[in-house]
Amino acid sequence: MSSLLIQNGLVIQADGQRQEDILIQGETIVAVGQELGVSGQTKIIDASGKWIFPGVIDPHTHMGIPIKSGTSADDFASGSRSALHGGVTTILDFTVLETGQSLFESLEVRKKLAEKALCDVGLHINITRFEPEILAEIPHLISMGFNSFKVFTTYKEAGMMLTYREIETVAEIIGSHGGVLMVHAEDDGVITAASGVYADRIKTHPEYHAKSRPAEAELRAIEQLGEISKRTDCTIYIVHLNTAAGLVKAAEYPLLKVETCPHYLLLTEAMYKQADGRMFVSSPPLRTAADQEALWQGIQDGLVHTIGSDHCPFCLGDKAQNIPFQDIPNGMGGVETLFPTLLAQFVERGLDLSLLVKLTSSNAAKIFGLNLFKGILSLGANADLLIIDPDSITRNWESGLDTILDWNAYTGLPAMFPETVICRGEIVVSTEQVQTPSKGKLLRSTSAG
Ligand code: URP
Ligand code: ZN
Ligand code: ZN
Repeated sequence: MSSLLIQNGLVIQADGQRQEDILIQGETIVAVGQELGVSGQTKIIDASGKWIFPGVIDPHTHMGIPIKSGTSADDFASGSRSALHGGVTTILDFTVLETGQSLFESLEVRKKLAEKALCDVGLHINITRFEPEILAEIPHLISMGFNSFKVFTTYKEAGMMLTYREIETVAEIIGSHGGVLMVHAEDDGVITAASGVYADRIKTHPEYHAKSRPAEAELRAIEQLGEISKRTDCTIYIVHLNTAAGLVKAAEYPLLKVETCPHYLLLTEAMYKQADGRMFVSSPPLRTAADQEALWQGIQDGLVHTIGSDHCPFCLGDKAQNIPFQDIPNGMGGVETLFPTLLAQFVERGLDLSLLVKLTSSNAAKIFGLNLFKGILSLGANADLLIIDPDSITRNWESGLDTILDWNAYTGLPAMFPETVICRGEIVVSTEQVQTPSKGKLLRSTSAG
């Protein structure tokens, strides 16, 4: 079995930072401590002066999913390779429930596709139809280790929406079996009312995208979901929260967990006026600078639990120029830039790096029942970690991306890419270059947070 010792790094974990060695055998951490002794066969990495973080868990990706007329550009192979370059060693993606399929069948299809992944993969189960047979599958899936389910309060036209009443029934079942309900929280009534103005297709510029999905939609949905969480005792995880008002409302409900995304922290709706504005069309839309600052404050106040990329990329040609904003496939790439851009922000803003660990790995591990092995660097955990040079902050990194995409939303922003990434004990990135990683593993929850 291979043996690897990482010496003298500053190990940054959710509970603090210590100068320690980490000893890895095979896929597993077997010791963390001072001056660990090793045999002659052990490969040694000197991490003096470097930071060591747990491998990042991206709780929200969409590899190769159908959106409007397109399919998100990364499949599990290309997207996971890109993820590793940015320090993401685990992605949590979603099933796609096709017409006539059961939840189990939708899971089997995605499991097969995910076999191509080069990092570990967990799968949330999308519930986009409310039928007795579908509901009956939930307890069994939870007992198999698939404990997170996602519903939508909008996308009625795409046949994906559940009503609040239906969501409450789903939450009752999930809550009573110890699972987690994830919700895309934009109130469909608010969106329908706001987007009616654009139905005649006279105003079609991407700048109207944000106006057609107003901030109030999130507030209204979160109010409803907060009450549902109280009535059903179900943990409800709000994906891609993006507004100041939504954040304040979510904080009123202890069973709501909040995820935001780098695009809401780093970009604003002003992007829609740029020449490439169409490329920033994703749902929910980018918001105002005031929303952005509220999210940063919420991070510092502990109101945000995780940051996920919502990686759902499209190339320049996939979002054709001059088509109405209503027809642009929604989504942006971000799995590779998630951690490097956030780390640089934390450094520039002087924020606590242990908080960054909570937001980018340990909290997601707890919420999704992966915390026995992920999000922590301790005896028995999966050996997933990143080594970072504290002096590596740069704005000149775009050409180093390991991606099939031809467009990047974060051009010119500061970033810090890991020089080494270790996934289950294997060095998958060395001197910032992705090597030839082995395949990842499909994860199952072992406990619910
Ligand atoms: O625009 C986005 N975010 N596309 C991905 C699907 C979703 O709603 O998260
Ligand atoms: Zn969504
Ligand atoms: Zn998403």
